[in-house]
Amino acid sequence: MKILVNDPLDEKAIEMLTKEHEVDIREYKKEELLEVIENYHAVLVRGRTKIDREIIEKAKNLKVIGRAGIGVDNIDIKYAGEKGIPVVNAPTGSTYSVAELTMLHILALHRQFGVANSTTKEGKWEKKRLKGWELHGKTLGLVAVGRIGFEVASRARAFGMKVVAYDPYISQEVLDKVEGKLYNSLEKVLREADVVSIHSPLTEETYHMIGEKEFEIMKNSAFLVNCARGGIIDEKALYKALVEKKIAGAALDVFEHEPPSESPLLKLDNVHVTPHIGANTYEAQEKASTIAAEQVLKVLKGQEGDFVVNRRFLKR
Ligand code: 3PG
Repeated sequence: MKILVNDPLDEKAIEMLTKEHEVDIREYKKEELLEVIENYHAVLVRGRTKIDREIIEKAKNLKVIGRAGIGVDNIDIKYAGEKGIPVVNAPTGSTYSVAELTMLHILALHRQFGVANSTTKEGKWEKKRLKGWELHGKTLGLVAVGRIGFEVASRARAFGMKVVAYDPYISQEVLDKVEGKLYNSLEKVLREADVVSIHSPLTEETYHMIGEKEFEIMKNSAFLVNCARGGIIDEKALYKALVEKKIAGAALDVFEHEPPSESPLLKLDNVHVTPHIGANTYEAQEKASTIAAEQVLKVLKGQEGDFVVNRRFLKR
């Protein structure tokens, strides 16, 4: 069968796929993809390629869509399901990498690492201005506690932080393992947290979940970290909150529009940014790519995938 790999995948995954099938490695843009997609039985992507309704409409021979990563907001999973196409992802591949980047951002904000690094390199010695804060004794507020949120919580505990969380889809037992408290309202978490870290997927429910009202509730000394998905935070409201000192700073690995070249947030000293590199480690990429490849191969063999994200929409 013919497989299209349309975003960069780890070579181990490519080997797995080529052992059994014909594989094309490309980076087709939407217009090109619309032309060629009907030639393929499987397509594997990361977050860059959008598999929208129009693409799925043309994908007459597609049996499976693989996402070498976690987030599937770039794929119309509902429409794929209605067309009988399972979408499989790799939910466990990048857990540690994203949790580690989140900790890096939390630490960097507390020690003004961005300014410290750039000013010292410029030959300045801004020791007085660069007084920071300890994590020890502070409260981490998690918005969603999936695999990544949980690993962030356990690392935060090692730094002596307290953990509170809002997640309507989990139970207190999950938080017991990190001596954390599960609250039944986002507001309660925002009120208590010194650091708010987001770990939810981008869905209709979470779009602009953190906006003007939420910044009013947060402590003026609080930091906000988002290594999950752009669009969960209302960036205009975030800019306003930072300028009006409603919160102390923010760290963003993800943006509503990537790259965010025109964003005024990039001009602020108390905003740390990285270019969506949460899952971008050698380890995470190998895991995410091979897990997704394994899932795609399974479905092509006529088996049920283990990580089918659109099972509820699947019509066969
Ligand atoms: C994910 O959803 O797995 C991460 O955000 C990584 O996305 P990427 O594979 O597009 O880098």
